[in-house]
Amino acid sequence: MSNTFGKIIKVHLFGASHDNVVGVVIEGIPAGINIIEDDFIEYINRRKGGSVGTTDRVEADNPKILTGIIDEYTTGLPITIVFENKNKNSIPYQLYKSWHRPGHADFTQKSKYGKYADIRGGGIASGRMTLPLMIAGVIASKCIPNVNAKAFIAHINGEKPDKIDWQKIRNEGDSLGGEIICILENIIAGIGEPFFDNIESYFSHLFFSIPGIKAVGFGDAWQTAFMRGSEYNDIFISNDGQTTTNHCGGIQGGITNGNAIVIHLIVRPPASIKKEQISLNFDTDELEKRKITGSHDLAFILRLPPIIEAVSLLAIADLYLYSKIYS
Ligand SMILES: Cc1cc2nc3c(=O)[nH]c(=O)nc-3n(C[C@H](O)[C@H](O)[C@H](O)COP(=O)(O)O)c2cc1C
Repeated sequence: MSNTFGKIIKVHLFGASHDNVVGVVIEGIPAGINIIEDDFIEYINRRKGGSVGTTDRVEADNPKILTGIIDEYTTGLPITIVFENKNKNSIPYQLYKSWHRPGHADFTQKSKYGKYADIRGGGIASGRMTLPLMIAGVIASKCIPNVNAKAFIAHINGEKPDKIDWQKIRNEGDSLGGEIICILENIIAGIGEPFFDNIESYFSHLFFSIPGIKAVGFGDAWQTAFMRGSEYNDIFISNDGQTTTNHCGGIQGGITNGNAIVIHLIVRPPASIKKEQISLNFDTDELEKRKITGSHDLAFILRLPPIIEAVSLLAIADLYLYSKIYS
Protein backbone atom coordinates (compact mmCIF):
# COMPACT_ATOMS: atom_id res chain seq x y z
CA MET A 1 0.00 0.00 0.00
CA SER A 2 1.65 3.24 -1.10
CA ASN A 3 -0.75 6.16 -1.17
CA THR A 4 1.65 8.75 0.22
CA PHE A 5 4.12 10.86 -1.75
CA GLY A 6 6.38 13.81 -1.06
CA LYS A 7 9.51 15.04 0.68
CA ILE A 8 8.41 18.26 2.42
CA ILE A 9 4.83 18.46 1.14
CA LYS A 10 3.47 15.01 1.90
CA VAL A 11 0.31 14.03 0.05
CA HIS A 12 -1.82 11.11 1.22
CA LEU A 13 -4.75 10.06 -0.99
CA PHE A 14 -7.67 8.06 0.32
CA GLY A 15 -11.01 6.65 -0.81
CA ALA A 16 -11.91 5.04 -4.11
CA SER A 17 -14.20 5.73 -7.05
CA HIS A 18 -17.44 4.45 -5.47
CA ASP A 19 -16.63 4.98 -1.78
CA ASN A 20 -18.59 7.72 -0.03
CA VAL A 21 -15.70 10.12 -0.57
CA VAL A 22 -12.31 10.52 -2.16
CA GLY A 23 -9.90 12.81 -0.37
CA VAL A 24 -6.44 13.99 0.47
CA VAL A 25 -4.38 14.82 3.55
CA ILE A 26 -1.61 17.32 2.82
CA GLU A 27 1.18 17.79 5.34
CA GLY A 28 4.04 20.28 5.23
CA ILE A 29 2.18 23.37 4.03
CA PRO A 30 3.37 26.30 6.17
CA ALA A 31 0.93 28.31 8.32
CA GLY A 32 -0.50 31.56 7.00
CA ILE A 33 -1.02 30.66 3.34
CA ASN A 34 -4.22 32.09 1.92
CA ILE A 35 -6.46 29.42 0.37
CA ILE A 36 -9.89 30.30 -0.98
CA GLU A 37 -12.36 28.03 -2.72
CA ASP A 38 -11.98 30.05 -5.93
CA ASP A 39 -8.41 28.72 -6.14
CA PHE A 40 -9.91 25.30 -6.86
CA ILE A 41 -12.94 26.14 -8.98
CA GLU A 42 -11.28 26.74 -12.34
CA TYR A 43 -9.27 23.50 -12.04
CA ILE A 44 -12.33 21.52 -10.92
CA ASN A 45 -14.47 22.83 -13.77
CA ARG A 46 -11.85 22.09 -16.42
CA ARG A 47 -11.45 18.52 -15.10
CA LYS A 48 -15.20 17.75 -14.97
CA GLY A 49 -16.90 15.31 -17.30
CA GLY A 50 -20.17 16.00 -19.08
CA SER A 51 -18.81 17.64 -22.23
CA VAL A 52 -18.31 16.06 -25.66
CA GLY A 53 -15.92 13.08 -25.59
CA THR A 54 -16.08 12.74 -21.79
CA THR A 55 -18.05 10.68 -19.27
CA ASP A 56 -21.62 11.48 -18.26
CA ARG A 57 -20.68 10.82 -14.64
CA VAL A 58 -20.80 14.39 -13.44
CA GLU A 59 -20.30 15.01 -9.73
CA ALA A 60 -20.80 18.27 -7.82
CA ASP A 61 -17.10 18.14 -6.83
CA ASN A 62 -17.59 20.54 -3.94
CA PRO A 63 -14.40 20.54 -1.85
CA LYS A 64 -15.15 19.97 1.86
CA ILE A 65 -12.27 21.30 3.95
CA LEU A 66 -12.18 19.24 7.16
CA THR A 67 -8.91 20.34 8.76
CA GLY A 68 -5.92 22.64 8.42
CA ILE A 69 -7.55 25.79 7.00
CA ILE A 70 -9.35 28.34 9.17
CA ASP A 71 -10.91 31.53 7.78
CA GLU A 72 -9.10 30.98 4.45
CA TYR A 73 -5.60 30.62 5.97
CA THR A 74 -3.58 27.47 6.53
CA THR A 75 -2.89 26.64 10.17
CA GLY A 76 0.35 24.72 9.54
CA LEU A 77 -1.37 21.46 10.54
CA PRO A 78 -2.36 18.72 8.09
CA ILE A 79 -5.00 19.82 5.60
CA THR A 80 -7.79 17.35 4.89
CA ILE A 81 -10.15 17.84 1.96
CA VAL A 82 -12.83 15.41 0.78
CA PHE A 83 -15.15 15.19 -2.21
CA GLU A 84 -18.39 13.22 -2.07
CA ASN A 85 -19.07 10.49 -4.62
CA LYS A 86 -22.80 10.67 -5.30
CA ASN A 87 -23.37 9.97 -8.99
CA LYS A 88 -22.26 6.36 -9.09
CA ASN A 89 -23.70 3.07 -10.28
CA SER A 90 -21.78 0.05 -9.05
CA ILE A 91 -24.07 -2.55 -10.65
CA PRO A 92 -22.08 -3.03 -13.93
CA TYR A 93 -18.95 -3.74 -11.89
CA GLN A 94 -20.45 -6.95 -10.45
CA LEU A 95 -19.75 -8.52 -13.84
CA TYR A 96 -16.17 -7.23 -14.02
CA LYS A 97 -15.35 -9.18 -10.83
CA SER A 98 -15.34 -12.33 -12.96
CA TRP A 99 -15.35 -11.05 -16.58
CA HIS A 100 -12.37 -8.73 -16.20
CA ARG A 101 -12.36 -5.81 -18.63
CA PRO A 102 -9.58 -6.12 -21.22
CA GLY A 103 -7.00 -3.38 -20.70
CA HIS A 104 -8.32 -2.23 -17.31
CA ALA A 105 -7.13 -2.98 -13.77
CA ASP A 106 -9.87 -5.43 -12.66
CA PHE A 107 -7.66 -8.52 -13.03
CA THR A 108 -4.51 -6.98 -11.55
CA GLN A 109 -6.37 -5.56 -8.54
CA LYS A 110 -8.01 -8.94 -7.93
CA SER A 111 -4.60 -10.61 -8.22
CA LYS A 112 -3.36 -8.31 -5.46
CA TYR A 113 -6.34 -7.91 -3.12
CA GLY A 114 -8.17 -11.18 -3.85
CA LYS A 115 -11.92 -11.29 -3.34
CA TYR A 116 -11.73 -8.07 -1.30
CA ALA A 117 -10.65 -6.00 -4.31
CA ASP A 118 -12.79 -2.87 -4.71
CA ILE A 119 -13.20 -2.56 -8.46
CA ARG A 120 -16.40 -0.49 -8.32
CA GLY A 121 -15.83 2.33 -10.80
CA GLY A 122 -12.24 1.05 -11.13
CA GLY A 123 -11.67 1.44 -7.36
CA ILE A 124 -8.37 3.20 -6.76
CA ALA A 125 -7.45 2.72 -10.44
CA SER A 126 -10.00 5.38 -11.30
CA GLY A 127 -9.58 8.84 -12.77
CA ARG A 128 -11.64 9.98 -9.76
CA MET A 129 -8.49 9.83 -7.61
CA THR A 130 -7.00 12.64 -9.68
CA LEU A 131 -9.49 15.10 -8.19
CA PRO A 132 -7.96 15.21 -4.67
CA LEU A 133 -4.47 14.83 -6.19
CA MET A 134 -5.10 17.89 -8.36
CA ILE A 135 -6.28 19.90 -5.35
CA ALA A 136 -3.08 18.99 -3.49
CA GLY A 137 -1.15 20.47 -6.42
CA VAL A 138 -3.20 23.66 -6.37
CA ILE A 139 -2.45 24.12 -2.65
CA ALA A 140 1.24 23.22 -3.09
CA SER A 141 1.59 25.76 -5.88
CA LYS A 142 1.15 28.50 -3.27
CA CYS A 143 4.49 27.48 -1.75
CA ILE A 144 6.56 28.41 -4.80
CA PRO A 145 6.41 31.99 -6.05
CA ASN A 146 5.49 33.01 -9.61
CA VAL A 147 5.67 29.62 -11.33
CA ASN A 148 3.15 29.23 -14.10
CA ALA A 149 2.08 25.83 -15.51
CA LYS A 150 0.16 25.45 -18.78
CA ALA A 151 -0.79 22.09 -20.26
CA PHE A 152 -2.45 21.58 -23.63
CA ILE A 153 -3.43 18.69 -25.86
CA ALA A 154 -0.88 18.38 -28.67
CA HIS A 155 -2.97 15.81 -30.54
CA ILE A 156 -5.60 13.15 -30.07
CA ASN A 157 -4.80 10.03 -32.09
CA GLY A 158 -2.65 12.20 -34.39
CA GLU A 159 -5.40 14.78 -35.04
CA LYS A 160 -6.07 18.29 -33.72
CA PRO A 161 -8.66 17.86 -30.92
CA ASP A 162 -11.28 20.00 -32.74
CA LYS A 163 -11.04 17.76 -35.81
CA ILE A 164 -12.26 14.63 -34.02
CA ASP A 165 -15.70 13.34 -34.98
CA TRP A 166 -16.81 12.33 -31.48
CA GLN A 167 -20.19 11.06 -32.63
CA LYS A 168 -18.42 8.63 -34.98
CA ILE A 169 -16.12 7.37 -32.20
CA ARG A 170 -19.17 7.00 -29.92
CA ASN A 171 -21.15 5.14 -32.61
CA GLU A 172 -18.20 2.83 -33.20
CA GLY A 173 -18.08 2.18 -29.44
CA ASP A 174 -14.41 3.05 -29.32
CA SER A 175 -12.03 5.41 -27.49
CA LEU A 176 -8.97 7.57 -28.18
CA GLY A 177 -5.69 8.63 -26.55
CA GLY A 178 -3.08 11.21 -27.47
CA GLU A 179 -0.33 13.49 -26.26
CA ILE A 180 -0.21 16.39 -23.80
CA ILE A 181 2.51 19.01 -23.52
CA CYS A 182 3.00 20.91 -20.27
CA ILE A 183 5.23 23.98 -19.91
CA LEU A 184 6.32 25.43 -16.56
CA GLU A 185 7.62 28.99 -16.72
CA ASN A 186 9.42 31.27 -14.25
CA ILE A 187 11.50 28.46 -12.82
CA ILE A 188 14.71 29.41 -11.04
CA ALA A 189 17.91 27.43 -11.65
CA GLY A 190 19.08 24.95 -9.02
CA ILE A 191 15.97 22.90 -8.12
CA GLY A 192 16.22 19.07 -8.18
CA GLU A 193 17.92 16.44 -6.03
CA PRO A 194 20.33 14.18 -7.88
CA PHE A 195 20.70 11.27 -7.74
CA PHE A 196 17.30 9.63 -7.21
CA ASP A 197 15.06 12.67 -6.80
CA ASN A 198 16.25 14.53 -9.85
CA ILE A 199 13.62 16.57 -11.72
CA GLU A 200 12.88 13.95 -14.37
CA SER A 201 12.55 11.05 -11.94
CA TYR A 202 10.50 13.02 -9.38
CA PHE A 203 8.09 14.42 -11.95
CA SER A 204 7.77 11.05 -13.67
CA HIS A 205 7.00 9.27 -10.40
CA LEU A 206 4.05 11.61 -9.89
CA PHE A 207 2.91 11.55 -13.54
CA PHE A 208 2.93 7.76 -13.70
CA SER A 209 0.70 7.73 -10.62
CA ILE A 210 -2.03 9.24 -12.79
CA PRO A 211 -3.98 6.32 -14.26
CA GLY A 212 -3.49 5.94 -18.00
CA ILE A 213 -0.23 7.90 -18.48
CA LYS A 214 1.97 5.66 -20.61
CA ALA A 215 5.08 7.70 -21.40
CA VAL A 216 6.74 10.84 -20.06
CA GLY A 217 9.41 12.75 -21.96
CA PHE A 218 11.28 15.99 -21.27
CA GLY A 219 12.43 18.74 -23.61
CA ASP A 220 12.32 17.48 -27.17
CA ALA A 221 11.38 14.06 -25.71
CA TRP A 222 10.99 11.39 -28.44
CA GLN A 223 12.54 13.69 -31.08
CA THR A 224 15.82 13.68 -29.12
CA ALA A 225 16.66 10.25 -30.51
CA PHE A 226 16.88 11.74 -34.01
CA MET A 227 19.14 14.72 -33.16
CA ARG A 228 22.89 15.23 -33.21
CA GLY A 229 24.78 16.77 -30.28
CA SER A 230 25.40 19.91 -32.33
CA GLU A 231 21.63 20.34 -32.78
CA TYR A 232 20.59 19.31 -29.27
CA ASN A 233 23.01 21.45 -27.20
CA ASP A 234 21.41 24.64 -25.85
CA ILE A 235 23.69 27.69 -25.93
CA PHE A 236 23.89 29.84 -22.77
CA ILE A 237 23.40 33.55 -23.35
CA SER A 238 22.94 35.02 -19.86
CA ASN A 239 24.31 34.33 -16.42
CA ASP A 240 20.93 33.29 -15.01
CA GLY A 241 21.10 30.26 -17.34
CA GLN A 242 18.95 31.44 -20.28
CA THR A 243 19.70 29.60 -23.51
CA THR A 244 18.97 30.30 -27.19
CA THR A 245 17.07 27.02 -27.58
CA ASN A 246 15.52 24.69 -25.01
CA HIS A 247 15.95 21.16 -26.37
CA CYS A 248 16.71 19.79 -22.90
CA GLY A 249 13.44 21.21 -21.50
CA GLY A 250 15.00 23.28 -18.73
CA ILE A 251 16.72 20.36 -16.99
CA GLN A 252 20.40 19.47 -16.98
CA GLY A 253 21.84 16.80 -14.72
CA GLY A 254 18.41 16.50 -13.10
CA ILE A 255 18.50 20.15 -11.92
CA THR A 256 16.54 23.09 -13.32
CA ASN A 257 18.64 25.48 -15.44
CA GLY A 258 16.27 28.47 -15.28
CA ASN A 259 14.58 27.88 -18.63
CA ALA A 260 11.02 26.60 -18.98
CA ILE A 261 10.46 22.95 -18.01
CA VAL A 262 8.89 21.20 -21.00
CA ILE A 263 7.12 17.87 -20.51
CA HIS A 264 5.46 15.51 -23.01
CA LEU A 265 2.97 12.89 -21.83
CA ILE A 266 1.44 10.01 -23.77
CA VAL A 267 -2.11 9.17 -22.71
CA ARG A 268 -3.73 5.85 -23.55
CA PRO A 269 -7.23 5.37 -24.95
CA PRO A 270 -9.67 4.33 -22.17
CA ALA A 271 -10.13 0.60 -21.75
CA SER A 272 -13.88 0.74 -21.14
CA ILE A 273 -15.29 0.80 -24.65
CA LYS A 274 -18.82 -0.03 -25.76
CA LYS A 275 -17.68 -2.19 -28.67
CA GLU A 276 -18.12 -5.93 -28.03
CA GLN A 277 -14.91 -7.53 -26.74
CA ILE A 278 -13.86 -11.02 -25.76
CA SER A 279 -12.46 -11.65 -22.30
CA LEU A 280 -12.13 -14.66 -20.04
CA ASN A 281 -14.80 -15.22 -17.44
CA PHE A 282 -12.57 -16.31 -14.55
CA ASP A 283 -15.51 -18.01 -12.77
CA THR A 284 -16.59 -20.22 -15.68
CA ASP A 285 -13.19 -20.38 -17.47
CA GLU A 286 -15.07 -19.57 -20.70
CA LEU A 287 -14.25 -16.84 -23.20
CA GLU A 288 -17.25 -14.53 -23.40
CA LYS A 289 -18.10 -11.68 -25.75
CA ARG A 290 -19.60 -8.70 -23.94
CA LYS A 291 -20.21 -4.98 -24.10
CA ILE A 292 -18.99 -2.74 -21.28
CA THR A 293 -21.72 -0.57 -19.79
CA GLY A 294 -21.59 2.32 -17.35
CA SER A 295 -20.28 5.89 -17.63
CA HIS A 296 -16.95 6.27 -19.38
CA ASP A 297 -14.82 8.83 -21.15
CA LEU A 298 -14.27 8.38 -24.88
CA ALA A 299 -10.96 10.17 -24.34
CA PHE A 300 -10.00 11.11 -20.80
CA ILE A 301 -7.08 13.10 -22.24
CA LEU A 302 -9.69 15.87 -22.64
CA ARG A 303 -9.88 16.14 -18.84
CA LEU A 304 -6.17 15.85 -18.13
CA PRO A 305 -4.63 19.33 -18.73
CA PRO A 306 -5.62 20.82 -15.32
CA ILE A 307 -4.52 17.62 -13.57
CA ILE A 308 -1.13 17.68 -15.31
CA GLU A 309 -0.65 21.36 -14.46
CA ALA A 310 -1.46 20.80 -10.78
CA VAL A 311 0.70 17.67 -10.49
CA SER A 312 3.64 19.53 -12.10
CA LEU A 313 3.20 22.34 -9.59
CA LEU A 314 3.12 19.83 -6.74
CA ALA A 315 6.39 18.26 -7.91
CA ILE A 316 8.24 21.55 -8.40
CA ALA A 317 6.93 23.11 -5.17
CA ASP A 318 8.03 20.12 -3.09
CA LEU A 319 11.52 20.05 -4.63
CA TYR A 320 11.77 23.84 -4.29
CA LEU A 321 11.01 23.71 -0.54
CA TYR A 322 13.48 20.85 -0.16
CA SER A 323 16.22 22.76 -1.97
CA LYS A 324 15.65 25.77 0.30
CA ILE A 325 16.45 23.60 3.32
CA TYR A 326 19.16 21.33 1.97
CA SER A 327 21.14 23.24 -0.68
C1 LIG B 1 -9.39 11.71 -15.43
C2 LIG B 1 -9.35 10.27 -15.87
C3 LIG B 1 -10.52 9.66 -16.34
C4 LIG B 1 -10.49 8.33 -16.77
N1 LIG B 1 -11.66 7.79 -17.25
C5 LIG B 1 -11.65 6.50 -17.69
C6 LIG B 1 -12.85 5.91 -18.17
O1 LIG B 1 -13.90 6.54 -18.23
N2 LIG B 1 -12.80 4.62 -18.58
C7 LIG B 1 -11.63 3.87 -18.53
O2 LIG B 1 -11.64 2.71 -18.92
N3 LIG B 1 -10.50 4.41 -18.06
C8 LIG B 1 -10.47 5.69 -17.64
N4 LIG B 1 -9.31 6.24 -17.14
C9 LIG B 1 -8.08 5.45 -17.18
C10 LIG B 1 -8.06 4.33 -16.17
O3 LIG B 1 -8.22 4.86 -14.88
C11 LIG B 1 -6.74 3.54 -16.33
O4 LIG B 1 -6.53 3.20 -17.66
C12 LIG B 1 -6.79 2.29 -15.50
O5 LIG B 1 -6.66 2.63 -14.13
C13 LIG B 1 -5.65 1.34 -15.80
O6 LIG B 1 -4.43 1.97 -15.54
P1 LIG B 1 -3.29 2.02 -16.63
O7 LIG B 1 -3.95 2.43 -17.91
O8 LIG B 1 -2.32 3.06 -16.14
O9 LIG B 1 -2.72 0.64 -16.71
C14 LIG B 1 -9.29 7.57 -16.70
C15 LIG B 1 -8.13 8.19 -16.21
C16 LIG B 1 -8.14 9.53 -15.82
C17 LIG B 1 -6.86 10.15 -15.32
